[in-house]
Amino acid sequence: MKQGPARRRLYFLFAFAILLYQTPPIAAQSASSHPIESGSTWANPLTDAQIRDKATALLRQMTLDEKIGQLSQLPGSDSSEFKETVKQPMEEILKQRGAGSILWVSDPKEINRLQHVALEQTRLHIPVLFGLDVIHGYHTIFPAPIAMASSWDLKMVEEAQAVAAQEARAAGIQWTFAPMVDIARDARWGRMVEGAGEDPYLGAAIARAQVLGFQGKQLGAPDRVLACAKHFAGYGAADGGRDYDSSYIPEEQMWNTYLVPFKAAVDAGVGSLMSAYMDLNDVPATGNRWLLHDVLRDAWNFQGFVVSDAFAVRSLRTHGYASDLQDAAHKAFTAGLNMDMASGTYLKYLPVEVQQGHVSMQQIDEAVLPILETKFRMGLFEHPYVDASRLEPTLNDPAHQELARKVAQRSIVLLRNEGSLLPLDKSGKTIHSIAVIGSLAEADTDLLSMWGALVKPGPSVTVLQGIREKAGSAIHVAYAHGPNLSRDFPSPFENLPITAALKEQPSQTAQEAHQSIDEAVALAKQSDVAVLVLGEIDLMSGEYASRSSLKLSSHQEELLEAVSATGKPLVLVLINGRPLDISWAAEHVPAILEAWYPGSQGGNGIADILFGDANPSAHLPVSWPRSSGQTPIYYNHNLTQNPETAPDFKSRYWDLQSTPLYPFGYGLSYTSFSFDNLKVTPTANVGGVIEVSADVTNSGARAGDAVVQLYIHQRAGSASRPIRQLKGFEKVALEPGAKRTVHFKLGKDELQFWSPAEKKWTVEPEQFDVWVGGDSSAALHGEFRLTK
Ligand code: BGC
Repeated sequence: MKQGPARRRLYFLFAFAILLYQTPPIAAQSASSHPIESGSTWANPLTDAQIRDKATALLRQMTLDEKIGQLSQLPGSDSSEFKETVKQPMEEILKQRGAGSILWVSDPKEINRLQHVALEQTRLHIPVLFGLDVIHGYHTIFPAPIAMASSWDLKMVEEAQAVAAQEARAAGIQWTFAPMVDIARDARWGRMVEGAGEDPYLGAAIARAQVLGFQGKQLGAPDRVLACAKHFAGYGAADGGRDYDSSYIPEEQMWNTYLVPFKAAVDAGVGSLMSAYMDLNDVPATGNRWLLHDVLRDAWNFQGFVVSDAFAVRSLRTHGYASDLQDAAHKAFTAGLNMDMASGTYLKYLPVEVQQGHVSMQQIDEAVLPILETKFRMGLFEHPYVDASRLEPTLNDPAHQELARKVAQRSIVLLRNEGSLLPLDKSGKTIHSIAVIGSLAEADTDLLSMWGALVKPGPSVTVLQGIREKAGSAIHVAYAHGPNLSRDFPSPFENLPITAALKEQPSQTAQEAHQSIDEAVALAKQSDVAVLVLGEIDLMSGEYASRSSLKLSSHQEELLEAVSATGKPLVLVLINGRPLDISWAAEHVPAILEAWYPGSQGGNGIADILFGDANPSAHLPVSWPRSSGQTPIYYNHNLTQNPETAPDFKSRYWDLQSTPLYPFGYGLSYTSFSFDNLKVTPTANVGGVIEVSADVTNSGARAGDAVVQLYIHQRAGSASRPIRQLKGFEKVALEPGAKRTVHFKLGKDELQFWSPAEKKWTVEPEQFDVWVGGDSSAALHGEFRLTK
């Protein structure tokens, strides 16, 4: 068996998973006030100058060892990788040198114990910052980030992350490693689920909303946490969609696409960033001075600090970039990386670097200062401990569950609804029996996705429970499990206590799988409607969960086609972290819902949509490929010499259309919307503002929410420009027959791009197209000209 870092990492994960599972049981529900207000209106009593003075004064008292302690994030358990480097238990280091941060401890008692060590047994009594992956909820788990992005509802996303922050903070977590803002254009990459999809404009808007949700308007509110935009930068472009593989991204794509959401996070005040694992253009992101210094500090004037991804400083040697661990510490530190996550490399080798004169004390001070400032800004010196009395009322606030249900409803994308099969009639008059089929219908933690299930989460509602609850006694609901779902190559996150709770499904023989399909078919035949719940268990999406094929795995396609052959009305509900190859279903299954990983209230949210108590309003944040052969795929590509509109030579493959199965921005509703009356300022000077307005009308019979999207195209310039680019959107609630005029402004931020010819940002005096509509194929068209 393969030894080395991967294996050590496994042991380490095992140890930290045990720690995570020590979260105490949660008592009965009790109400507390809604969280949003305090953080959003909270103002730090200290000015920036006062914070700097305090941090500088403290820094002056510190020894080199203590400073390097602050540049280190210690693993909350004795990882073998860490020990191998520093040859000392983590807690001894904490006592001797203090620590910038500790991660992967979630038990509030353990947090308090370690904080007491930091405050009482170290020379300078500097509090520790406790960090954890609170990605889409701590106890109340919200839909996965790609789902939240599908809502296009910025206020709601902010509220959800504010709740996540409030729960985490009550449990002693002061720092979340979120939001993940990596642009992902390749559904083979497993971590697409953790981000906001393929588009820089939507990605930036969602990044901003998440930062505001986690931190509030100003960092330091007592019920918020420090956010961390990750993984800086280009992680989503991994070669072949293989997690951790190298990314090759030209500078213009970095500026125009991959860096855009990071910039938005920085502008929203994000206090920290995490450097990515992979090589970016042959220089690992964790040792990449262009990224960490030139872009982040010089171009963006970022004032916070950067932490590496887990063990990524040490990995610089594995990459073949650093000759040894001292060289790894040197390259990461001098590139601009403030804090070493869990590898102990800074602890061991930065003192040597200073002694040998390769790194100056001034450089060390500059790296430590933002970490100390963050601790002062967050009030950790005054309030370092977890207040246990706040924990249970906060985690059990019923408002949190209500919000999770609303977010689930608004994150589910209706992809197909032939003959208006949905919503289903719940009165019992037309439908008397429903067959719910598929192992994911019974899954609970699988609805949470991996990070959602990391810290022992609160209870979740399965799809089956949600449907049963809604059907009540009016409709008979029966269940067939169907085939088990498993990966061909197991996840390294498997076999840990934490993933055991995720109910990995054992592999089956073909005969067992076929028998389960026969049972499902028999049940469908006896029922009036079949609801098939298919997709991916949580370990099939996320970190280390890339796929070469997007097909429904584990006999699910056979199940689908067999149940469809019964001729019963069929609804397909997808639970997954990425678009899957559903080309057959898209032609044969009348109703399809993409529910992603919908979180604690997922089952209720799905049932609300199925039975029409909520009207679908989500839209895809990614182009949906027809098959994995089309990936990477994204709507905002350039025209090429033979664009889709050309009479011939237009297809990129001879065996597949070049268009996606569903375009970016697409999503149906139980009502319909029409768009007209487009008005566009015909011309403006470069530097001026173009105003655009259009009417959206609810032309159907139900109330619903439209997502009005604005796209532009620059017809010529110093570089080829994408066929379309999203530059505005608004989610609008409309009663039947109601009309609203939506207004957009196109100014410098929307019209500029980073020109590879000019090597700078530019707004060019050119002719532009503009479209407004319900997805990226919107037809309502206008144009404008920018003049010199
Ligand atoms: C992941 C990060 C995560 C970190 C800490 C890494 O494996 O890539 O996204 O924040 O672990 O848990």
